[in-house]
Amino acid sequence: MSININNVFHTYSKKTPFEYKALDGISLEIKDNSFVAIIGKTGSGKSTLIQHLNAILLPDEGTIEVDEYKITPQDTKTSYKNLRQHIGLVFQFSEYQLFEETILKDVMFGPLNFDVEEDKAKELAKTYLNLVGIKDELFEKSPFDLSGGQKRRVAIAGVLAMEPDIIVLDEPTAGLDPQGANEMMQMFLELKNDFNKTLIIVSHDMDFVYKYADEVILLSGGKKIFHQDTVSFFNNDHVYQYGIEKPQILALYENVFNKKAEYFVNYDTLINLLVEAINNVK
Ligand SMILES: Nc1ncnc2c1ncn2[C@@H]1O[C@H](COP(=O)(O)OP(=O)(O)O)[C@@H](O)[C@H]1O
Ligand SMILES: [Mg+2]
Repeated sequence: MSININNVFHTYSKKTPFEYKALDGISLEIKDNSFVAIIGKTGSGKSTLIQHLNAILLPDEGTIEVDEYKITPQDTKTSYKNLRQHIGLVFQFSEYQLFEETILKDVMFGPLNFDVEEDKAKELAKTYLNLVGIKDELFEKSPFDLSGGQKRRVAIAGVLAMEPDIIVLDEPTAGLDPQGANEMMQMFLELKNDFNKTLIIVSHDMDFVYKYADEVILLSGGKKIFHQDTVSFFNNDHVYQYGIEKPQILALYENVFNKKAEYFVNYDTLINLLVEAINNVK
């Protein structure tokens, strides 16, 4: 089972002066239980691409296959309930979509919408609120009483509570403080490792991508430029002409050792090598 995107094109505002080709013939495959980062400059097509995965947007040409579901240009937009339970999409700034009276009700909304019984929906909501770090004493409060970071967590719990196998998140750590952002990335890793989920994350934070993702997909001008395992990707000098930063830890390594990292060196190995070097100096 996997995701297969086959030669997908998408143009916004067709036949108007604002016509814009946002996806220009994208093909790619994402395997089960992977942790994939989608990166690229603002406007490169990342959000457009991921909204095709659960048929929020339909392709003008090409097909998207997500396990047993197939999305084609001819589809009607109403018949995707099961698909959207299977693949959960967390929009950018998802915290603005909270609307219920209480936090618990907000997270129960998704499961109830998918015909889960009230008691079971409550149980799911509590489980996933706790998982994202929202404590029981907040459950009956209004989502509007929370901090921005907490609201974001509640919104993510709302998608997790539908128990999708694939979770797609558009810049989930943008605007969070560094500690909150790191905790969130750790939680995604736990979802992959302990709950067997597939994670697809749009991110601008190259250190997080380097640390957490198994694979990187780089978009530019609506085209897929690279799709590589993370270590090979960041060791490839050609990727840096597309407006992405080198992970700071990799740049630090190159400065300290005055050479490029070996092709097999991942984030954890780099940290160990740097710690060793510092200890040698002491
Ligand atoms: N609703 C829309 N109407 C017209 N153009 C759009 C719309 N949404 C996005 N675009 C354009 O499509 C391009 C890709 O956008 P997007 O997928 O949001 O990029 P990214 O998420 O990589 O920043 C951008 O140039 C953007 O301005
Ligand atoms: Mg975007």
